[in-house]
Amino acid sequence: MSEKPNTASKVIKNDPWFGSYASRAESMRASEIRALFAVANRPEVVSLAGGMPYLERMPFGELSELIAKMMVDKGDVAWQYGSAQGDQHLREDVLQIMELENIKDVQPDDVVIVNGSQSGLDLITRIMCNPGDVVLAEAPNYVGALGVFQSFQVDVVNVLLDKDGLIPEAFEQAIIEQHKLGKQVKFLYTVPNFHNPAGATMSEERRPKILEIAQRYHVLIVEDNPYGLLSFKGKTYPALRSLDAENVVYLSSFSKIIAPGMRVAWMVAPPGIRHKLVLANESAILCPSNMSQMTVTTYLDNFDWKSQINDYRGMYKERCDTMDAALREYLPYCSWHKPEGGFYIWLQIPDGLDSRAMLPRAITAKVAYVAGTAFYNNGQGTDHMRLSFCYPTPERIHEGIRRLSTVIDAERETAELFGTTGRPDPDPTDVEYPDPSAN
Ligand SMILES: Cc1ncc(COP(=O)(O)O)c(C=O)c1O
Repeated sequence: MSEKPNTASKVIKNDPWFGSYASRAESMRASEIRALFAVANRPEVVSLAGGMPYLERMPFGELSELIAKMMVDKGDVAWQYGSAQGDQHLREDVLQIMELENIKDVQPDDVVIVNGSQSGLDLITRIMCNPGDVVLAEAPNYVGALGVFQSFQVDVVNVLLDKDGLIPEAFEQAIIEQHKLGKQVKFLYTVPNFHNPAGATMSEERRPKILEIAQRYHVLIVEDNPYGLLSFKGKTYPALRSLDAENVVYLSSFSKIIAPGMRVAWMVAPPGIRHKLVLANESAILCPSNMSQMTVTTYLDNFDWKSQINDYRGMYKERCDTMDAALREYLPYCSWHKPEGGFYIWLQIPDGLDSRAMLPRAITAKVAYVAGTAFYNNGQGTDHMRLSFCYPTPERIHEGIRRLSTVIDAERETAELFGTTGRPDPDPTDVEYPDPSAN
């Protein structure tokens, strides 16, 4: 039988350690779209693919001077090992940020600093899940969380969401079905605000319902909230953690509200879980970087970070409005829900079209997106694509959507003429793997 040629198999063939890997490493695979990302990052391509914040408005010059001073004045701490739970000063500072989402009962000792929320997701999965355990998650789901769950060989069971977020009835139904199969649900993973990739926000009515179901069935909730402060109208929603201190593990991050390069995020968890998180953080990395944490506190202590976040909100709103208007102009036959905040529009393309198969053509037309299949663990999502409006300027966004429309128009014409895009149906076993570069 001839082997399917792909880069992954080439690497494995030349690998002298082939056969020595743990099964969890075998399940880790590079996305086949990774190669396309290298091309997508070229300047002539309008990339609507990545989830990178736009940083040009950060006061880098002034901040660098303060950081240089901090590294001299407090060098013995900044350049040293620190606490596995994180810097006390930073753990105090994050309390003010969480207050904006109504989390008011937290003490610095309840907080654990992590190397980005991504690392937090890894730690919580590490301490809660054995291989084969069940995690419920919104479908579509954040690609980086899928990667973590896959690496711990967790069974991800999809729960439907709509424009008002996770559907409580679907959540309860999923728990009941798992119980019938004799499985315990280890936790629900949810991104309640300005979801990546769906753009949806969990309504205020649904929040207590979801918490009530979780309490009734004793299911832990992992609330991942990197975008909560990036509402276009300035509205913040009460965090699930603000409504329930005992059943929620809360994660938030400086990546989208300051800058991702520092890799600083935080978690709040009930005491037992928090204790395990600190131990897991210690065994994974010993301690988060003092230098990064002190860079964050230097920024928070010396700049008007609330105004900076407001400025970001305005900027991302303008970009979202531009994308929405361009979609209305060029792709009125597609469907999408305009998000209230965050970075993403989740675009549904016409029946019969396949966003994954279309991607090489889009790159040729000099526009990139992430195919919907990247956000599912089961090959679903060919009828969607994620469009990010966070990084390109409004002019580039407009041009990107115009280019995208030429590709979708052409695919649609072929489909209408022949009843198909002329390509074979994708192999259902050929599942797309999460690509961290899509984040
Ligand atoms: C929902 C979600 N969670 C977590 C992350 C990772 O954030 P961090 O940079 O803090 O690791 C991202 C990044 O895009 C995200 O969208």
